[in-house]
Amino acid sequence: MKITLAANWKMNLQQIDIENFINELKHASSVDIILAAAFPYLTLINENDKFHAAAQNVHDAESGAFTGEVSVTMLSDLNINYCIIGHSERRQYFSENDDLIAKKAEILIGHNITPIICIGENLEERQSGETLDIVNRQLSSIFTNIEVQSTFIIAYEPVWAIGTGQTASPEQAQEVHQFIRDFLNKRYNSEKANSTSILYGGSMNESNAKALVEQNDINGGLIGSASLNATSFNAIIDSVKDK
Ligand code: PGA
Repeated sequence: MKITLAANWKMNLQQIDIENFINELKHASSVDIILAAAFPYLTLINENDKFHAAAQNVHDAESGAFTGEVSVTMLSDLNINYCIIGHSERRQYFSENDDLIAKKAEILIGHNITPIICIGENLEERQSGETLDIVNRQLSSIFTNIEVQSTFIIAYEPVWAIGTGQTASPEQAQEVHQFIRDFLNKRYNSEKANSTSILYGGSMNESNAKALVEQNDINGGLIGSASLNATSFNAIIDSVKDK
């Protein structure tokens, strides 16, 4: 499977930064690059056909009186093909839960936008040995109504590793990724399980990316801090492109 590297810029970078980033960004035919910019800048990314644009959020209704929100039909109108949903920052600061994330996944899929569905345990859950139970609960809620023919990406992002500089070891990440693939195998079939990209996210950078994507079930990364400048993102591309 082709490696996917998705940059999650969160509420960072402005027009000039994004233009410079795109000019400096390397292209490797073995790597799919997705750039998740804030809403005002998404079309800047779509001007370039070497990279894909991703939104960082979407509302679960098609339209309506929801001041400040952005709908799936608007993303689709602008030819945005990917959207991150369920990120732990949205779960934490905007109280999003798995039921809402399931609705967002379904409405995106219904408009042919690929959701990048984030799941993962927090530190307390990891320390009490509940990681796989939590991941199973999240997956079971989100994948209730999603049909086998749908296209989606899953990002395993242990909350304790996001923005902390503390990465899951390749073995810790692989254990959960394999569990996710087994879940897809049981929920759908082996073809679906083996063709779904499962990304790792949480302090991925140029020094740990290679060891992570060398694991059997890690198909790339969702990268925050190390995606904020083209030099470190290019170094990650270089380190994984020959997997
Ligand atoms: P990080 O962020 O790489 O800075 O840990 C990852 C994410 O939040 O998706």
